[in-house]
Amino acid sequence: MCGIVAYVGDRTAYPILIKGLQRLEYRGYDSAGIALLNGQTNVYKCKGKVKDLQALSKDKEISGTVGMGHTRWATHGEPSDHNAHPHRSMNGKFFVVHNGIIENYTHLKKELSNRGYKFQSETDTEVLANLIENIYLEKSVSAELAVRLALTKVVGAYGLVISCEDEPGMLIAARKGSPLVVGVGEHEYFLASDATPIVEYTDQVMYLNDEEVAVITRDGLDLKNLENDSKTPDFKKITLSIDHIDKGDYEHFMLKEIHEQPMSIRDTFRGRVAMDESKIFLGGVLDIMPQLIKAKRIIIVACGTSWHAGLVGEYLFEKYGRIPVEVEYASEFRYRDPIIQEDDLVIAISQSGETADTLAAIRKVRETGATILGICNVAGSSIARETDAGVYTHAGIEIGVASTKAFTSQITVLTMMALLLGSKRQVLPASEYKELIHELIQVPSKIEEILKQESEIEKIAAVYKDVTNALYMGRGILFPVALEGALKLKEISYIHAEGYPAAEMKHGPIALIDENMPVFALAANDQSYEKMVSNIQEVKARKGKVIAIATKGDKGIRKMADHVIEIPECHEAVSPLLAVVPLQILSYHIAVMRGCNVDQPRNLAKSVTVE
Ligand code: F6R
Repeated sequence: MCGIVAYVGDRTAYPILIKGLQRLEYRGYDSAGIALLNGQTNVYKCKGKVKDLQALSKDKEISGTVGMGHTRWATHGEPSDHNAHPHRSMNGKFFVVHNGIIENYTHLKKELSNRGYKFQSETDTEVLANLIENIYLEKSVSAELAVRLALTKVVGAYGLVISCEDEPGMLIAARKGSPLVVGVGEHEYFLASDATPIVEYTDQVMYLNDEEVAVITRDGLDLKNLENDSKTPDFKKITLSIDHIDKGDYEHFMLKEIHEQPMSIRDTFRGRVAMDESKIFLGGVLDIMPQLIKAKRIIIVACGTSWHAGLVGEYLFEKYGRIPVEVEYASEFRYRDPIIQEDDLVIAISQSGETADTLAAIRKVRETGATILGICNVAGSSIARETDAGVYTHAGIEIGVASTKAFTSQITVLTMMALLLGSKRQVLPASEYKELIHELIQVPSKIEEILKQESEIEKIAAVYKDVTNALYMGRGILFPVALEGALKLKEISYIHAEGYPAAEMKHGPIALIDENMPVFALAANDQSYEKMVSNIQEVKARKGKVIAIATKGDKGIRKMADHVIEIPECHEAVSPLLAVVPLQILSYHIAVMRGCNVDQPRNLAKSVTVE
């Protein structure tokens, strides 16, 4: 949610900033801007995308070896030229780019207005720029101290890069809640909201911690906390490479990521499953194994697609681990007064590892003494760092805003955990444990088979591309997949879609069915198959159109449904991993046919770092 990039060194900053913003555009794309420091500060910013910023800055003065850039997802103030970052303080001393929300900005703005400050934008960020400047000028302190003093007055979340006109070779970075990564090269430093703009130049990176402030020049980095205690920068090598952030031959990142799923799922279980398929080994949970075995209950907290993965986890943990599970929207959980016991295990699921609500939920749990485990995709992310233990999904960087491969990798981790737990708690017989591991290992090649049907699925997409509503229904472990299918369609094609447990149709939604309503029915060969068949018949009896996801060779469903997409025969436990893939492909092609921007759907951002 908002992307920040900055550079200080000997190279020309402009191309580094523009390329970096393009890489970060998935985090927010309603306006973009840069500030280039070269004796004076040149700022170019506008509503729109990075390409609009490039057009704006064409033929302008773009020299300078220090600079900062921002791509915005609006929180305070509509997307507009004047609300775009960087923001300048009233007297032009400071320039600021910011990711996050200053919650007490109204109060601060009032105080500054009383001191004569005038504002050009509706943003909280401009208030912060002015607050820093006011302290700097009134107290005659260094820019760095002015920043630290200002931040002690701020309530909220921030990832910040700040420049001061009086010290043009210096950038100040600070973080609380919103991520900031620093990369180091030869006499140069890179700053960004994630590592994607940096990996092209260096593999040595460091994640700022909350309430840390870094003062950076081409010759060094001085790290401290808000109280002025010095910290030692800890640069580490990262494995992310430039190939991971390239679309390759695919038209969109989302399509590339859908096709990567056989590989990403393999990467998720690689090294974690014994060669003879007899056992699972999750290094990340070793330290908390006693708590895991003894846990009385699992509480899963997550948002959006990750919450859907959590619902699949509920089925798996209950069935194979015989442990009660509750799955909570992190945004609701954090504001309730939930009863959490010390012997609960709380699992936070998050692709980005930065989702504000999920992070707040685990901080709430922290006070109770319960064990917290993270399932994250982004290594070194806040959630990964704030949990007691964790299992990375290793899906590789996910750039398409609509989550696809991260979802299937999250489910893969949850499946491994549920089986491991079942085995350790001695509630899952060794033969079944082994059979299920075998089933999991077959998933990537089965997904490869599904992907081969893409052109058939595209034809079905063409039939339904103009609908205004759609329903998705599933039962048991496939009910969360119905929710996920509906979410994928609505977020990228803007078609209204809802997912339901199939038996709930009779309690209301069936009233919506007529000859114009497509119903996507998840009818894999599982224990609720017969009941799904009845539900499909109920839809057909009301002239609804049925697009069934069914097991290969299922002739019965073929007779009833208008369209069938086949998935290979599989065990019920892994059926979500297969059934979701055709729904991802359908949503993708429908959105493309409707002319939607699939990788950057309107109003959305990849990493939701504000609540
Ligand atoms: C939908 C989607 C979102 C995210 C949600 C949580 O395709 O991607 O619903 O799942 O914003 O994000 P993470 O997993 O990063 O916590």
